[in-house]
Amino acid sequence: MSKPAEESDPARSRELAAIEAEAFFYTVFEHLGYDFRHYSDASRNRRLTAFVDRHSLGTISEAQGRVLRDPKLLTEFLSAMTVNVTEMFRDPAVFAKIRAELLPRLATYPRIRIWIAGCATGEEAYSVAILLDEAGLLDRSTIYATDIDGDSLRAAGSAIYPADAMVGATRNYQGSGGERPFSDWYIAKYDRCILNPALRSRIEFFSHNLATDSAFGEFHLVLCRNVFIYFEETLQRRVERIFWESLAPFGNLVLGPREALTAGGVQLFKPQDRRLGIYVKSQNQHARP
Ligand SMILES: C[S@@+](CC[C@H](N)C(=O)[O-])C[C@H]1O[C@@H](n2cnc3c(N)ncnc32)[C@H](O)[C@@H]1O
Repeated sequence: MSKPAEESDPARSRELAAIEAEAFFYTVFEHLGYDFRHYSDASRNRRLTAFVDRHSLGTISEAQGRVLRDPKLLTEFLSAMTVNVTEMFRDPAVFAKIRAELLPRLATYPRIRIWIAGCATGEEAYSVAILLDEAGLLDRSTIYATDIDGDSLRAAGSAIYPADAMVGATRNYQGSGGERPFSDWYIAKYDRCILNPALRSRIEFFSHNLATDSAFGEFHLVLCRNVFIYFEETLQRRVERIFWESLAPFGNLVLGPREALTAGGVQLFKPQDRRLGIYVKSQNQHARP
């Protein structure tokens, strides 16, 4: 018996998988509201294929019905679609810059509001809280830390991290100019470290989807690092508009050092330090989204 055409033609098979993936993401959005339609194809489709294989779901089309009907599988699918790699004081030079140049401006506000979008398991939010505490600003600050991945948010809210993660965290903290013993910020218990509750008390972790939800407040600083790399330009453009609307005058936006604004985004934000991904909200009347 001859094989189906797509089995003997890898290019055709890839093409079919891409068509199935498009249909899959469209259906998930239409029926469940989770919008992955404008994520970059390559990494999005690779993650979907890996999820389908891991759960032995057959083809992408066969997986579609299962994900729609099985809430547990849906949760697993959502986790599989997100990359939550992060660490405390990731890119120490960025935190050094926040410490030296952004905190003095934040200090001028009676109440400081910061949004960390795509916070993953929370390390970035706690790092910012540590900077604020060192500057004596933590008590009048609130950090809103959001993500779409419920598992990551639960881990973030626990404020508990593996003890061995503190080695890299300490190195990064020192690289950012931190001078205190990093162990001031946690207590070690067996193989876990529990972060200082004063840090946790100033952070609100909750679900917010940058692809479908809107702005929810006014902030003096927005960090959204290593999230745009997964988005297509249309989606990034949407999110840039949300950040522009969310920022107070002269508010800063911090992206990942390997991320750039879209052609529309450069009208909305001016570079403060392009190499480190630090921008300031443009006050230009024509900069309205
Ligand atoms: C690589 S992590 C970045 C974590 C942290 N910002 C950092 O730079 O270390 C990317 C995060 O973006 C989140 N994410 C992906 N799509 C999202 C969306 N549409 N809305 C909110 N968060 C999203 C993922 O769940 C993941 O936790």
